[in-house]
Amino acid sequence: MPVKSILVWDFPVRVFHWLLVISFAGAWLTSEGESQQMLHYAFGYSACALVLFRIVWGVIGTRYARFSEFIKGPTETMHHIKALLTGKQYPGLGHNPVGALVMISLMILILLIGLTGYWTVKEYLGDLMGGAHEAISSLALAFVVAHVTAAIVMSFWQKENLVSSMLTGKKQGLPEQAIRYPQYIVGLLLMLAWAYCFYMVFGGNWPSLTS
Ligand code: HEM
Ligand code: HEM
Repeated sequence: MPVKSILVWDFPVRVFHWLLVISFAGAWLTSEGESQQMLHYAFGYSACALVLFRIVWGVIGTRYARFSEFIKGPTETMHHIKALLTGKQYPGLGHNPVGALVMISLMILILLIGLTGYWTVKEYLGDLMGGAHEAISSLALAFVVAHVTAAIVMSFWQKENLVSSMLTGKKQGLPEQAIRYPQYIVGLLLMLAWAYCFYMVFGGNWPSLTS
């Protein structure tokens, strides 16, 4: 059967991804200087809120959004690494098992950054939390660089633009591999929730998180 352009990434996954990019970059750009402190907290906490949403969506979301679809055991992951080393591409349409490990690590690191940021604000354990916060942020940045490089390299290798797939949700595949519902309403609600969280933190309306 001929392959055609089919929907793989639902709308909430795409909204999650690009709002996460904005939030992470925003938090980095506002990380120095007291004048931008509330902006920094707003970007940082809304990044964490996105990850919390994604954890739920990884259980109840559409086919390729589910953790069960892309988190593989050590045997299958090793098998995939060996296949990669011998020049074989991953046959699935969703995230490949190695890429998925980096993405999951990034999500965990973002939650840890949020937690250590919160503890820094609460002056818990003196300077230790501020140091941990900065160190984990740098580690996450290194993972982001690896992730973006992999997305570009894999796009050339697979001759399919994975970055535009993350925008349009579409990839080349068989019609029966497509997901049926784009879930626009959930994506829109996610946008609203992100904006609300950003606004509340930035405006100092949740003082228990920021002071
Ligand atoms: C993705 C999210 C975040 C990233 C990437 C990030 C990154 C950073 C970085 C790189 C610094 C060090 C700035 C410097 O002095 O050179 C910093 C400082 C700080 N961040 Fe975040 N941050 C994030 C989220 C948060 C959150 C949610 C909070 C919670 C309120 C927070 C609170 C702070 C505080 C209080 C400092 C000052 C630490 C100190 O002076 O030791 N950050 N952040
Ligand atoms: C702050 C920066 C970034 C973070 C934290 C991040 C994180 C993630 C996460 C968590 C996923 C999994 C998506 C999901 O299943 O919900 C993902 C996928 C993806 N990201 Fe990013 N990302 C970042 C920046 C970028 C950028 C700048 C690009 C483009 C150049 C990019 C391209 C992609 C692609 C193509 C995928 C799908 C990979 C695949 O086809 O399996 N990411 N990213």
